[in-house]
Amino acid sequence: MENQTATQKIDEPAFTGSSNNNLPEFRDMKFEKINQLALDHPGANDMAYRTRRDYIASLSKRFREDPEHKIIDVEYTPEEQQVWQIVATKLEEIQAKRASSFYLEAKKKLGISTRQIPQLSEMNRRLGELTGFQLAPIEGLVETRGFLSWLEHRTMLCTQYIRHTSRPEYTPEPDIVHEAIGHIPNFTNPDFADFSQFIGRGARIASDEQLEELGRLYWFTVEFGLVEENGELKAYGAGLLSSFGELENAFTDNVERRPFDLNEVINQDYDYSDMQPILYVISSYAELKETTRKYIESFGK
Ligand SMILES: [Fe+2]
Repeated sequence: MENQTATQKIDEPAFTGSSNNNLPEFRDMKFEKINQLALDHPGANDMAYRTRRDYIASLSKRFREDPEHKIIDVEYTPEEQQVWQIVATKLEEIQAKRASSFYLEAKKKLGISTRQIPQLSEMNRRLGELTGFQLAPIEGLVETRGFLSWLEHRTMLCTQYIRHTSRPEYTPEPDIVHEAIGHIPNFTNPDFADFSQFIGRGARIASDEQLEELGRLYWFTVEFGLVEENGELKAYGAGLLSSFGELENAFTDNVERRPFDLNEVINQDYDYSDMQPILYVISSYAELKETTRKYIESFGK
């Protein structure tokens, strides 16, 4: 009998310039119940909004049922474009001072502007050239293990619908603002793309307890991470970059900003329904990637 070792060596992720045609099967997708629009959604009682949201969700669903996985562009309405313009313009003002310079550059590379809602197909094409990361439309909020596991395929599941017009600053569920302004630019960084892939690999093999730890790591980095850049603190987390309130709050005395410590982070509880009182600062994506690689290796088989 062979000796079992406690760690599993993880190879360097390979950037093979893959396309959406190489995606694995979308079987057994498990969604959180939020798909039915929770009652606190600003559009919950607006039937026209719900119908439109569900139509856009149906386009996303067609993507995963299509054997060729072709992303269907959404013809956004003038009203939807206006919601984007309002929120993107206000965020851009705050981001000029608070977002990492890498992120600001990445937005330009992907063609994300305040003028119009970017299409996943176009961002996917540009990302493929840069880091081989892929975007796959999805019609709702996927449960944690399934969602994170897709990152192992260098693929992020992204919604295409947009928040309700009555509250441009708020959405209780991921929408195209959160995906395109929050998440997608980070995948243009090779170290961040690799780090995401490690999280995905970890999610696939994690015990339930380890999955909770991974969820906290994801929360305090991908969603709410800060990075030190030339002696200044900057935001890179999607939950910060896509929310006026969180982005401004992150740099006030309301928040305790701590140096990133993996063991602390994976044990740190959080409340997703309130402003974050604790944030963690990484020194670089490269360091985050290496720390995460070692951590995932400790999961074993
Ligand atoms: Fe997110």
